[in-house]
Amino acid sequence: MSDLKSLFEPRGVAVIGASHNTRKIGYRVVDNIVKGGYKGGIFPVNPKAGRIAGVDASRSINEVIGEVDVAVIAVPAVHVLDAVKNCARKHVEHLVIITSGFSEIGNNEEEREIVNFARDHGMRVLGPNIFGLYSGRVSLNATFGPSDITKGSVSIVTQSGAIGIAMIGKTAYEGIGLSSVISVGNKADLDEADLVEHLMHDDDTRAILMYLEGVREGERMVSVLEQAARTKPVVAIKSGRSARGAAAAASHTGSLAGSDEVFDGIMKQCGVMRAETIEEALDWCAFLSRAPEPKNDNTVIITNGGGVGVLAADASEKYGVHLYDDASVLHDAFGANVPDFGSTKNPVDLTGAATAKDYDSSLSTALNDPRIGAVICLGCETAVFDAKQFTDVVKKKYADFARTKPVVFSLVGGAAIEQGITTLRQNGVPAFSDVNDAVSCMGVLFGHRRFMRQPVKDPERVPLDVQIIGSVIASVKGDGRNFMLANEARQVMEAAGIALPESLVAKNFGAAVEAARGIGYPVVMKIVSRDIIHKSDAGGIALNIENDDEVVDAFESISRNCKEHVPNAHIDGIEIAKQVPKGIETIVGARRDPSFGPIVMFGLGGVYVEIMKDVAFRAYPLSRAETMSMMGETRSYPLLLGARGDERKDIETVTDVILRLGTIVKECPEIADIEINPLVVYDQGEGAKAIDVRILLSQNESKG
Ligand code: ACO
Repeated sequence: MSDLKSLFEPRGVAVIGASHNTRKIGYRVVDNIVKGGYKGGIFPVNPKAGRIAGVDASRSINEVIGEVDVAVIAVPAVHVLDAVKNCARKHVEHLVIITSGFSEIGNNEEEREIVNFARDHGMRVLGPNIFGLYSGRVSLNATFGPSDITKGSVSIVTQSGAIGIAMIGKTAYEGIGLSSVISVGNKADLDEADLVEHLMHDDDTRAILMYLEGVREGERMVSVLEQAARTKPVVAIKSGRSARGAAAAASHTGSLAGSDEVFDGIMKQCGVMRAETIEEALDWCAFLSRAPEPKNDNTVIITNGGGVGVLAADASEKYGVHLYDDASVLHDAFGANVPDFGSTKNPVDLTGAATAKDYDSSLSTALNDPRIGAVICLGCETAVFDAKQFTDVVKKKYADFARTKPVVFSLVGGAAIEQGITTLRQNGVPAFSDVNDAVSCMGVLFGHRRFMRQPVKDPERVPLDVQIIGSVIASVKGDGRNFMLANEARQVMEAAGIALPESLVAKNFGAAVEAARGIGYPVVMKIVSRDIIHKSDAGGIALNIENDDEVVDAFESISRNCKEHVPNAHIDGIEIAKQVPKGIETIVGARRDPSFGPIVMFGLGGVYVEIMKDVAFRAYPLSRAETMSMMGETRSYPLLLGARGDERKDIETVTDVILRLGTIVKECPEIADIEINPLVVYDQGEGAKAIDVRILLSQNESKG
C-alpha cells in the first residue's frame, strides 16, 4: 500500500508556476491555499519572486526554507521535467502536476520520463492534467477550482477535471461537506485504487465517490474496492459506454461484454454502488455520510397522499428497502395519528387533511418506536398543507432524527414546495422532489449494510491440468490459427473436467455411420473446419439424425452447404455427437477483459442470446457464492430454480463450469476467450452438458 499521508497532510506546499497574474492557474492555486486556511508552509515559486496572493515567492524551490512535502506544478509542459528534477533535490514527496499536454494528447514518452524520474527519486505523482487536490483534514485547497469548499465527510476521486470542479461547486451550494477531492487526470502514477486504499483508512471520510472514465489495472482495483466497500460506502459513476473491442470480437461473450456491462457486474461484486448521474451520486454520498446506522430493516412510509405512497412502495421494492408490514404494531404505533378514513398500514396514510402538526406527531411516533428502523416521509401539496410550516417541522424533526434513525423526505408540489426543498437541502436535510430519489438513498444505505454483513467470500480455486491445455495451445499456434477446432476444444474441456456429449470426428460416410452406431442414435452432426466459425450460418449442422441413411444424407448436405458457403474451406471432417436430451440452455464464458483481466459470464443461452442480452459478469477469481449471485442477477435465473413447478436444475454444476472456465483463462494467458453455448443444464444432480465450445487464443500470442 502506498503511504499517502504526507500528500493529504503535508508540512509545506510549494506551487511551481505560481503567477503574479490573478487570472492564471498558478495564481489561483496559491490564492485558494491561502484562503482555504491551510496552516502549513505555503511556498509560491516564480522566477521573478515578489509576493503572490500575499505570500513571499521564491525564485526556485531550492531557495525555499522549510519542509516541502507536496509540490504543485503549474508550468507549461516543456518545463515540467526540470521542475520535477528541482523537486527531487528538495526531497519533495508528492508532485501534483496540473499541467496538460502529456498522454492525453499522445505525449506518452515525456509523461513516462517524468514519472520514472519521480519514482526513481522517491516521489509519487498525482496527474498530470488535473485540477489539483483538496484535503479537508489540513484545510488544504491546492486546486484552481472554487475557493469555497465545505468541510465534511465525503471524498471525491475524479478522472474528469471539469466534472470534479463542477461537483465542488454543487456540493458547496447544497451544503454537502467534503473530506477530500482528488483529481487523478492521466493517472500516470497514482490511480483510483491507490487513493481509495488511502481513503478507506481515513477516519474523516465516511463515503467515497469515484467518477471514472476508464479503468487501469482493473485486477488491483477490484481487490482494493472489495476491501474499501467493507469499511465504508463507495459510490461509482462511470461514463463511456464503449463498445470498443466488442464489435470485433468473434464470440458472444466478447460482443456481450461491452465494457459497461462488465463494469456493472464487477461493481456489484465489490459492493460498490453505481449511480447513473452526478446528482444521484452526490445525493447518495451526502446521505450515506450523514445517516446513522439503522437499528433494523423495518422502514415505514408516512404520507398524506395515497398515490405518492404507492410510488414510494414500488420504489422500495426496486431499491431493496424492506417495508415494515406488521399491521398490528403499525396500528398500535400510528392509530392515534391517523384519522378513521386514513390507513395505518404501510404506507401510513395521514390523508390529504394532514397538517404540519400531524406530521410532527407521526414523525415523533416513528422516531421513538424501536420497532421502526427507518422512515420515508412524503408530502403532497394540498389545500391544508402549508409548505413553510411543514419545512419548519421537518427541519426541527430532522435534528432529532439525525443521530438516531435514518430518514428521507420527498415533497411534491409547486413553487413553495420547491423552495422548501432547497432550504431543507441547504440545511443538510435529505429532501427531494422525486420520490424515487428519496427511496434510492434509503436503498443504498440498506444495500451497503447488507454487503458489510456478508461474510468475506473466499475465491474458489479449481485444480487444472494446464500441461494438457498447454500442448493443445501449442499445436493450434503451430497451425497458425487463433481458434480451436472442435476436437481441440474437447481436449481442453476434458482437461478441465467439463462434460461434453460423446462424439467422434469422421472424414467419410463409412466412418460417420460407424461412429453414429457406436455412439447410439439419435446423433447430431457438425462441420469441423478451421475456415468456418459460424457453423449454423454455413449450413454445417444437422440435428435429430435417427439412422444410417440420415447420417449419409446429412454428411452429403453439410459438405455441400459448407463448400457453397465458404468455397475454399478446408474441411477437417464432420463431428458426430450424441444428441443430448432437452434441458435449460444457458451460455457460460470466460475471457480476458482489457481493463479487468479474467472475467466470467453467465446468461440464458441458445440462439436468442444476443437479442435477449440476459447476461451477467464478474471478475475472476470469485467465490461460489458470488458466482451464484451473478447467476441470480439474470432474468432467466428462475428457470434454473425450477419455474412453474419444474424441478430445480443443477445450479451447482453450472457454478462449477463457470469457475473452471475462469480458471482456464486465468492460468492459460494465451487463451483469450472461452464460451460454451449452449451449456444444457439438467435437473439437480444430473449435471450439464457443453454442447458447443468455442475457444479463441489471443491474437498476439498466436502470432508470436
Ligand atoms: N518555475 C517557476 N515558475 C515558472 C517556471 C519555472 N520553471 N516557468 C514559468 N514559470 C512561471 C511563469 O513566469 C508564470 O508566472 P507569471 O505569470 O508571473 O510570469 C507562471 O509560471 C505560469 O507560466 P506561463 O508560461 O504563464 O504558463 P500558463 O499559466 O499560461 O500555463 C499551465 C501553465 C496552466 C500549467 C498550462 O500549461 C496548462 O497546462 N494548462 C492546462 C491545465 C489544465 O487544464 N489541467 C487539467 C485540469 S482538469 C480540467 O479539465 C478542468
